[in-house]
Amino acid sequence: MTIIQGTHLKRYYEVGGGAFRKPATVKALNGLSFSLEEGKTLAVVGESGCGKSTLARLVTMIETPTEGELTIAGRPANAADRELRAMVQIVFQNPYASLNPRQKIGTILEEPLKINTSDDAATRKAKAVDMMTRVGLRPEHYDRYPHMFSGGQRQRIAIARALMLRPKVLVLDEPVSALDLSIQAQVLNLLMDLQKEMGLAYLFISHGLSVVRHIADDVMVMYLGKPVEMGKVEDVFAHPRHPYTAALLSATPIADPTRKKTRIQLTGELPSPLNPPPGCPFNPRCPRATDECRQAFPAESGEASHRFFCYHPL
Ligand SMILES: Nc1ncnc2c1ncn2[C@@H]1O[C@H](COP(=O)(O)OP(=O)(O)OP(=O)(O)O)[C@@H](O)[C@H]1O
Ligand SMILES: [Mg+2]
Repeated sequence: MTIIQGTHLKRYYEVGGGAFRKPATVKALNGLSFSLEEGKTLAVVGESGCGKSTLARLVTMIETPTEGELTIAGRPANAADRELRAMVQIVFQNPYASLNPRQKIGTILEEPLKINTSDDAATRKAKAVDMMTRVGLRPEHYDRYPHMFSGGQRQRIAIARALMLRPKVLVLDEPVSALDLSIQAQVLNLLMDLQKEMGLAYLFISHGLSVVRHIADDVMVMYLGKPVEMGKVEDVFAHPRHPYTAALLSATPIADPTRKKTRIQLTGELPSPLNPPPGCPFNPRCPRATDECRQAFPAESGEASHRFFCYHPL
């Protein structure tokens, strides 16, 4: 069953308006349709500024779309709907910034219960301690402060906090990028175990593709606010159709004998979303670009399990 559905989502920001200047529009998200299935992981991949965190803010109802529709569990997204808000929780990249240094772990974990439930103190504590053990922390950590923990442990605390209201969806915004390489795998394994135990769906945001293969069922590759390719992880990795996906894969060290060896090097600079090139936004960097790529964004091609937007697919 689909738990989150986005249809033609757009999110624009007005920036830089001043006394003698017209404000400009940043098209952070510029027409994105996707769905996340219950219990599954959809990875969202793309370079800095392509709109990944903007998507995270829409899905968690921190912000509303400028255009388009978003439904959660079949209901229109609405920040005033408490049940929906509890259903979708977020874990941020930096566990040093996302935990209040003056609060004990117990307080941090119980806060969502205080706000959203009528649980008494004893019940809240029991739930907090239970969640601590699920994420690999020990009960005696309950009275400690965030600074007493390592980055990996802090991210476990942030994950525990996100799970306190028993959500159906976790939005993971680069949840391991700030951690040491050796710790990343532990946290990813924890996330996969929790997903199975609790039936969670993940919207897993990542800069690169290397982590994605391991954790995701589906992947969506974005470029300057638009999707360029989406589908089953195995299909997209084995046979990327969009030159941008192929370029990202070329830059990713992945041992896979079945993968077609097409090396495409990313050249040129990422254009600004303030002034994206007309047509397919990837055209200035694309080795296959022709005139039509500079005129209009291509229609969707492919099949339901693997879709892409390109006039000259691989
Ligand atoms: N509140 C805002 N006001 C103006 N511009 C914004 C705002 N939030 C995001 N943007 C712009 O929208 C674009 C997309 O930003 P977003 O944070 O979604 O990117 P991202 O893919 O998460 O990047 P990163 O990988 O660096 O985290 C960027 O150009 C960013 O500068
Ligand atoms: Mg981001």
